[in-house]
Amino acid sequence: MNTHNSTTPRPPTGPHPRPQPIFELAHAGVTFTSRKGKDVIAVEDMNLTVNSEEIVSLVGPSGCGKSTVLRVLAGLQPLTSGDVWIGGGTRKPGFAEVAIVFQKPTLLPWLTVRQNIFYPVRALRRRPDRTLNERCDELLDIVGLSEMADRMPHELSGGMQQRASIARSLILDPKILLMDEPFGALDALTREDLQLDLLDLHARTRKTILLVTHSINEAVLLSDRVAVMSARPGRLQNLIEIDIPRPRGPDCIADPDFQKYAAHIRTDIFGPRYRKEAHA
Ligand SMILES: Nc1ncnc2c1ncn2[C@@H]1O[C@H](COP(=O)(O)OP(=O)(O)OP(=O)(O)O)[C@@H](O)[C@H]1O
Ligand SMILES: [Mg+2]
Repeated sequence: MNTHNSTTPRPPTGPHPRPQPIFELAHAGVTFTSRKGKDVIAVEDMNLTVNSEEIVSLVGPSGCGKSTVLRVLAGLQPLTSGDVWIGGGTRKPGFAEVAIVFQKPTLLPWLTVRQNIFYPVRALRRRPDRTLNERCDELLDIVGLSEMADRMPHELSGGMQQRASIARSLILDPKILLMDEPFGALDALTREDLQLDLLDLHARTRKTILLVTHSINEAVLLSDRVAVMSARPGRLQNLIEIDIPRPRGPDCIADPDFQKYAAHIRTDIFGPRYRKEAHA
């Protein structure tokens, strides 16, 4: 098991000669001012470099700033200190390079599944050309909703709605997919199903994914690296490389290495108290 306290890029894997950083947070900090004028430091001195095509999970206690980090990368939240770079340039808001998926699908109830997936195209007043139509069909296929393209959101299960929402996030072909507890509102079986779908989607599209999750097993199953954040103010506490070969499936959860990674992350989050109780 390789663990790193720094943000050193991974060694070369797959067809690419060396990993290419796609975004970076450097000494990033976000301080909010409450309505009573008190400063709340949500994120402090956060350093994280993510390479193109990686899946990195962000885990940590509730309130440690995970959603804030995602909002910074999506251009929805300015930093109060430090820097953020995306694709070699300083962060500029825009749908095209970064997309975000939230816990709830937020589909528009008066549009069909296909129209919902197309919605970002309409919102940006882009002409729906052949490439976009073909991409929409391909995304419907990837998320297993080709048969449901002309249905309304209320005719879909929760899992199907979240699949449609993931397809919608990819219609403008972003380089980076930010996911904030995307499976948190789903039942356990649907959640497992969507985790495997995400692995498949990543294998087919090679998008860079930053995933916030409260499930340690989900983080280990999906990720190339797991970034553990400390309690508020959130900082990068540990960066753990998950050296389990892909393609991965449900069987790898039983792998002793998988269990070692999960235990390591759990101890990082809960500290020595967890270790004592776990081995009592
Ligand atoms: N707009 C805001 N104004 C004031 N404080 C905020 C604001 N947004 C977030 N915070 C505070 O910043 C801290 C980090 O919030 P954030 O939502 O990023 O945490 P989180 O790690 O995503 O938590 P959870 O796991 O519960 O979703 C919290 O203390 C929160 O109360
Ligand atoms: Mg959150």
